[in-house]
Amino acid sequence: MQQLLQDVIVLAKETGEFIRQESRKFDHSKIEYKGKNDLVSYVDKEAEKRIVAGLSKILPGAGFIAEEGTSTKKSDTYNWIVDPLDGTTNFAHGIPVYAVSIALMKRNELTMGVVYEINRDECFHAVKGQGAFLNHFPITVSPIKTLDKSLLATGFPYYNFEQMSQYLVILDEFMKSTHGLRRMGSAAVDLAYTACGRFEGFFEYNLQPWDVAAGALIVKEAGGMVSDFKGGDDYIFGRQIIAGNEVQPAMQQLIQEHWF
Ligand code: IPD
Ligand code: CA
Ligand code: CA
Repeated sequence: MQQLLQDVIVLAKETGEFIRQESRKFDHSKIEYKGKNDLVSYVDKEAEKRIVAGLSKILPGAGFIAEEGTSTKKSDTYNWIVDPLDGTTNFAHGIPVYAVSIALMKRNELTMGVVYEINRDECFHAVKGQGAFLNHFPITVSPIKTLDKSLLATGFPYYNFEQMSQYLVILDEFMKSTHGLRRMGSAAVDLAYTACGRFEGFFEYNLQPWDVAAGALIVKEAGGMVSDFKGGDDYIFGRQIIAGNEVQPAMQQLIQEHWF
C-alpha cells in the first residue's frame, strides 16, 4: 500500500503540474459545456487520460469511476474514483482553487485518498487506518467544539435549483450561528481543509462520488465525522455530504431539520 500511495502522489502532482502549465494559456474560448453551468475543457479530459493511464500501470486490473468517462471499466474488488480537476469553474475563470482528487475503493470501502491542491502545492493523503497527512505531516481536524466559533464551507447549487428554498434556510441559520461560510468552488479542497482544521465543517448536496471520495476518507482519518444529510453512511454515492470535526452532529441536526 505504501508504494502504491507514493506512486499515486507522484501521479497526482505530475498531473497537477500539467494543469498548472495549461492554466497560464487558458482563455474563455476553450470552455465547453456538458450541461447548464457544467463546464469542461481539454485540460480536464487530458488530465484524466494521464491519470487513468498512470493508475492502470500502478494497479493493473482495477476499475474506474472517472468524471470525464475516460475509462468505464469496473472491477469487483478495486476501483479508482477520479476527478482530474475539481474546481473547473474556478480554473476556467482564473480563480486559483482547484485540485486533483484520486481515491481507491476496495469493494465498498475507501482505502486511499489523495487530494492535490495544485496552486498551493499542498498534497493531502490518507490510507484507511493510518491517519491523514498534508505534505507528509500528520493532520487532524479542528479542536473547536461549538458552531458559534466555527467556519464552515459549502457549495452553492448551480444547475438543479429544486431544493433551493430549503438550502437557503440552512444557509440563513448557519450564517447567524457561525463565524461564517465560504464557497471555495472545489469540494475536494473543502474536505481537505476540513481535515486539516481550516474549516470546522463542510456540507453540500448534488455532488458526485469523484467530488468527495478522496476528501471524505482524509477527513475521517484526520479524526473527523462524515455522513449524509440523514446522519447515515450514504455520502459517496448518495449525493449529500456533511463532514466536520466535533460540530458535525450539530450541523447534521440543523440540516436535517430543514431538509425534506
Ligand atoms: C465541482 C466542485 C464544486 C461543487 C460542484 C462540483 P467540478 O466539481 O467540486 O465545488 O460545488 O458541485 O461539481 O465540476 O469542478 O469537477
Ligand atoms: Ca468535481
Ligand atoms: Ca472535475
